[in-house]
Amino acid sequence: MKAIRGATTVEKDEAENIKQRVKELLTEIKNANNLNEDNMIFILFSNTADIRSFYPAKAAREAGFFSCALYSSLEPEIENSLNKCIRIMVLADISTKPKHIYLHNAAALRKDLTTINIAVDGPAGSGKSTVSELIAKRLNILHLDTGATYRAVAFACKKHKIDFYDEQQVKANIDKFNIEIKYLNNKQSTMLDNIDISDMIRTPEMSLAASTVSAYKCVRDTMVELQRKFASSNSCILDGRDIGSNVLPNAQFKFFLTASAEIRAKRRVAENQTKNINQPFDIVLADIMLRDKQDSMRKFAPLVCADDAIKIDTSDMGIDEVADKILKIIQEKV
Ligand code: DC
Repeated sequence: MKAIRGATTVEKDEAENIKQRVKELLTEIKNANNLNEDNMIFILFSNTADIRSFYPAKAAREAGFFSCALYSSLEPEIENSLNKCIRIMVLADISTKPKHIYLHNAAALRKDLTTINIAVDGPAGSGKSTVSELIAKRLNILHLDTGATYRAVAFACKKHKIDFYDEQQVKANIDKFNIEIKYLNNKQSTMLDNIDISDMIRTPEMSLAASTVSAYKCVRDTMVELQRKFASSNSCILDGRDIGSNVLPNAQFKFFLTASAEIRAKRRVAENQTKNINQPFDIVLADIMLRDKQDSMRKFAPLVCADDAIKIDTSDMGIDEVADKILKIIQEKV
């Protein structure tokens, strides 16, 4: 049996804000600690006296926490304490080390526990994966290339002879794909059925197939859950298309890298040559433009720059230069 602590704050004493923040906190605690209906025993809530419009425990019920016991109480009024704060304690039948979660202004209550999440988004060839890997090394945190998770789905379709253009077929099989992310010496390995497919998913064929399957809701829901789970329990940098806008809207740092399509195609040609893939520039450019279109026009979580992301045009910058710029921004704030 383990006790898991958590806290969050609301901006306004309003029912909607309270419901959203309680749901977010409990979901993060649940994901980080592998909790479910059966192993959650009770949740105690306390709220500061400036929260009067809605019971946090009721918000938990509305968020789907039905089977465990819930109890609300009032936090003691201590001078200069954090305003509009909801604290929780979950008793759970687990044997793993509990992961406590503190969100929004409540992160200041337990600075020792706060994981750092950095979101880097941008179109294909903007340099986001290489830059993110460099930053992860320098900050000694993990890097998750989320594109690899969609490439793994495309690869699984190929392996199991599923037509990736057929959304219903993909939907019927997505839960059967055994995709995992592992780390050896802090380097990401993308695994399918316990086989490392990290190199096999880097072909032009897999690039286009990944772009296609990543537009399906069933695929996004499954991969976003995997990505969020990872980020809630690790200090990490995630790169992709929708990290700042959708996967980690509360990431402490968000960056959006851009570069002209021609520059990105040039970079991809050079990268391909190092892997003995010889594709002419025009084909690579057409492929990049098609993927840009597919990725930014799709219905679910398209490629967009989050409102609070810092935009960096990398057209005339080297990888080290971009990484230095990002690190400077992070270090100034930290
Ligand atoms: O970054 P990449 O080229 O490896 O990504 C492969 C495809 O996966 C890309 O065309 C769009 C999709 N993708 C996505 O939809 N969301 C992400 N967070 C990352 C990638």
